[in-house]
Amino acid sequence: MSARGRFAPGQVLFGGDWSPEQWDPATWDEDLELMRRARVNTVTLGVFSWSSLEPTEGAFVTDWLDEILERLAAAGIGFFLATPTASPPPWFTRAYPDALPVRADGTRLTHGSRDTYAISAPAYREAARRITRRLAERYGRHPGLRGWHLHNEYGTLDHGPHAERAFQVWLAQRYGTIEALNQAWTTAFWSQGYASFAEITPPRATQYLPNPAQAIDFRRFSSDEMLAAMIEQREELRAAGSTAPVTTNFMLPTWNHLEQWSWAEQEDVVSLDHYLDTVGPDAEAHVAYGADLARSWSGGPWVLMEQNATGIRLDGRTLGKGASRMLRHCLGYIARGSQSSLFFQWRQSAGGSEQWHGALVPHAGGESRVFESVMRLGEVLERLAPVTALPADGPLIAAEVAILWHADGWWALETPDLPSSHLSYSAEVRATHRSFHRAGIPVDFVAPLADLSAHRLLVVPAQYPLSDAQVAWLEEYVHGGGELLVTYLSGLSDEHLRVAIGGYPGRLRDLLGVRGEELLPLPAGRRVQLSDGSVVEEWTELLTATDAEVLATYTHDGLAGLPAITRARRGAGHATYVSAGWTQESRDAHLAALAAELGIAPTLPGAAEAGLEAVRRRGDGVEHLFLLHHGAAPVTVRGNGQDLLSGASARDGLRLEPGGAVVLSLAPETPIHLLED
Ligand code: GLA
Repeated sequence: MSARGRFAPGQVLFGGDWSPEQWDPATWDEDLELMRRARVNTVTLGVFSWSSLEPTEGAFVTDWLDEILERLAAAGIGFFLATPTASPPPWFTRAYPDALPVRADGTRLTHGSRDTYAISAPAYREAARRITRRLAERYGRHPGLRGWHLHNEYGTLDHGPHAERAFQVWLAQRYGTIEALNQAWTTAFWSQGYASFAEITPPRATQYLPNPAQAIDFRRFSSDEMLAAMIEQREELRAAGSTAPVTTNFMLPTWNHLEQWSWAEQEDVVSLDHYLDTVGPDAEAHVAYGADLARSWSGGPWVLMEQNATGIRLDGRTLGKGASRMLRHCLGYIARGSQSSLFFQWRQSAGGSEQWHGALVPHAGGESRVFESVMRLGEVLERLAPVTALPADGPLIAAEVAILWHADGWWALETPDLPSSHLSYSAEVRATHRSFHRAGIPVDFVAPLADLSAHRLLVVPAQYPLSDAQVAWLEEYVHGGGELLVTYLSGLSDEHLRVAIGGYPGRLRDLLGVRGEELLPLPAGRRVQLSDGSVVEEWTELLTATDAEVLATYTHDGLAGLPAITRARRGAGHATYVSAGWTQESRDAHLAALAAELGIAPTLPGAAEAGLEAVRRRGDGVEHLFLLHHGAAPVTVRGNGQDLLSGASARDGLRLEPGGAVVLSLAPETPIHLLED
């Protein structure tokens, strides 16, 4: 476990974003009383408070925050303090109009919302450092400070003149010479050859398609540039003597502007804002996905910084979650390493842009069904304090399956004019994760070049660009005995999105033992069957097996009889290639069968089929088996464990009703069985 993976607050942090600057002192009193009743122990302050803290340039007003911190201290409630730099105030915009972000089409944005900053603008960076320094000097050693929440969801892309200069510097460092850049970007195409770095712009509105290598480099640059801004803030805190842990909140699932592995290295603890995008059973799978990503980025425990307390936004409607589900979701995150259940937000705003967003205290106030369930949640979370202790060594969750994750895959599939514009990196990765989740098998995500010694199976979904080093890493894994499964859209190009010619997927052709000649997306809605009975959609390829075994062939049109799924033996391991887009059901069946063949067992055999989610979180000399029952019929488990929530023993059998949850405390590796009902 990495050093950054040691965040152990001794209790589950419970609470949310609190914005006292929106309310009067009478409401503060009521808030603190409601927090006491709900057993809230943590709030996040200051996320968008810049104009309240610095109403005019250089004039700081902190009395209100001093008073809030005094009241929190008296109530025994800790806090994350945010740097408010995601929302520069109007005075800043008026004084430094060049620090407003510019869209690719040239539109310069203005204040009146939030996130309007040009990350490379010197005036913005200086103002951000100044307010950070001020907060660090005043509050950096406060005993209630649980950590620094730097900025909020970094993610504004700027295509303006400041970004242009910074992009040129970044490119000069990356490529060294303009000739190397011209080569990497294939600028001979459409007369784009550059004579110097000074001629290069961020991708902006162009008459026709932009250069894909320029597009992906701009995404990488933007992530690095925002990371540099975050590091500057962290350095201000440290210079002021504050040693509190530092985090910034990542966001899932809608957009992805950060390369999370490099960011996580610069944080003391990873935190995530996670908003569900479905109300069906897939919401539970989505919780598991977000939590597994956050734990993997962190290399250990992490902080769930935000989730919606009451609603799931779907197709323009905010649909209710329900209290039982809310509780199971909180437990699902904690089972997978979260040290918190924090929410956006504590009190539902009366005005402003997000006045209809859910909160722990709804507009109706403390006398409400929502708040009743919040109090119940507080009780449950208090009993889970023992879960937050960390194992002396080894991972929080023992997973033998790894899925490769890298933002390059996401960004590559967002470049225009690919063979299909209906490709989504996150959909492909999520579908892969969902299959293992449905099988009840724990999963880690891994970075390229990660140590894979604990992982018997590595799945590479849709990782379109692969560098030489990444290809060598995959080869070494397989030759050393690893089982690799690669899905279509992986390894088509090098890191500059240059197709590796001679047959697809060019970067992995030798390892996979195949040679593809044509990429053949299927028309919308068309599904075809393979010889092994699996059904595929979206994508097929004209493929031959050079020295791989053919596991399944196509049966349709001009591809009938040709390989669709192959497996090559390499050294002590195997490399499987899936050249077509499995439907979810086919993917589920194949991945579960492959895991079974490798002897990778579900956490609790039979549980997933009954709708029972089972996750074993390792602790200090103890394990906690989380059992979350999303199914429709009661189930009974038995084994030598005790439920932290009810105190009941499972020795003679413990029954879970639909919607129920238990957290069994066990000696390490104690078996628990699911009984037939
Ligand atoms: C983000 C932000 C919050 C709030 C929520 C609403 O995650 O960090 O300030 O806007 O979304 O879902």
